[in-house]
Amino acid sequence: MIDKRVLPLYNLHLMATPIKSKFTGKDIISLDQFDTESIRVLFDRTDALKEIGQKGLPSDILSGKLVTLLFYEPSSRTRASFDAAAKQLGGNTIVIEDPQHFSSVSKGETLEDTIQVFEAYTDAIVLRHPEEGTAKKAARAARHIPIINAGDGIGEHPTQALLDLYTVFEKTEKLSGLKGVMAGDIKNGRTVHSLLQGLSFYEKNEIYLLSPESLRLSKTDMQELKGSGVKLHEINSTDEIPKDCDFWYWTRVQKERFASEDEYKAVNNQFVVTKKLLNSRANKNTILMHPLPRVGEIKEEVDSDLRAVFLKNQIRNGMYTRMALLSLVLGK
Ligand code: NCD
Repeated sequence: MIDKRVLPLYNLHLMATPIKSKFTGKDIISLDQFDTESIRVLFDRTDALKEIGQKGLPSDILSGKLVTLLFYEPSSRTRASFDAAAKQLGGNTIVIEDPQHFSSVSKGETLEDTIQVFEAYTDAIVLRHPEEGTAKKAARAARHIPIINAGDGIGEHPTQALLDLYTVFEKTEKLSGLKGVMAGDIKNGRTVHSLLQGLSFYEKNEIYLLSPESLRLSKTDMQELKGSGVKLHEINSTDEIPKDCDFWYWTRVQKERFASEDEYKAVNNQFVVTKKLLNSRANKNTILMHPLPRVGEIKEEVDSDLRAVFLKNQIRNGMYTRMALLSLVLGK
């Protein structure tokens, strides 16, 4: 363990700053810190480390490093893949789930205090929180160690976007000139927001957004992406999906962001992927992705289709890209 008492307050000026291919000590709050070269550096590192995960090879890359996984919101994949990523590289983790009930947070401790406590014990904090903007707030509170945003409310989920981009790249060998559909809860889905941002760094990407009217991308997000490398088309029906898409990115309607069950039910599962839909509107190379969990919007009959990567490569890439990110951020 490093002695943080003698460390400079380097994180104060590195906070949410552009990565510019130099990851050491930096917070990972938003995809807007990235550029195409930084993504390439991350993907190169992912390629290099993948074998350790695939073959269970021993590694001491993160030996002596301890990572806090502080999750105020439920998570399976993101938490477990960060946990596995740290351990695959010889590091260790402290997992705090549901701190509202099982930690001093239940006694009224502020986020800032909680962050400083775990900063004293560990080398990085991976944070998930139901409120947008909390990752930034945590990064302000942490003075010496990096904060990694694992999803902040309807805001962003940068590490999910990185694994999604890696999955698209693995299959198509490109990140420009892509055509894709993103469907489901475009308004509240943080994975959608981060992925769109990632696609906007490249050229000539075209995305068809399919959602119920009330779950469309916010005007602000739409405006921000205007003139970028991603061209957006809003569509209303699966019949409008172009047949030459490189990928389909399906998402669930984010139930926890609705005021009532009725409001949720009114818009849930309007667009469901079935074998029939995949066979009629996708081509043989289209990949079907989903950040998971799915709750009915992709029928299980589709799972055995080789194009459905959401329970296969996409999941595994979550661990590999997070191994790469942790090793780069922790300066190894
Ligand atoms: C996503 C999330 O938490 O934003 N899940 C994940 O991290 N893989 C998607 C979701 O919950 O719908």
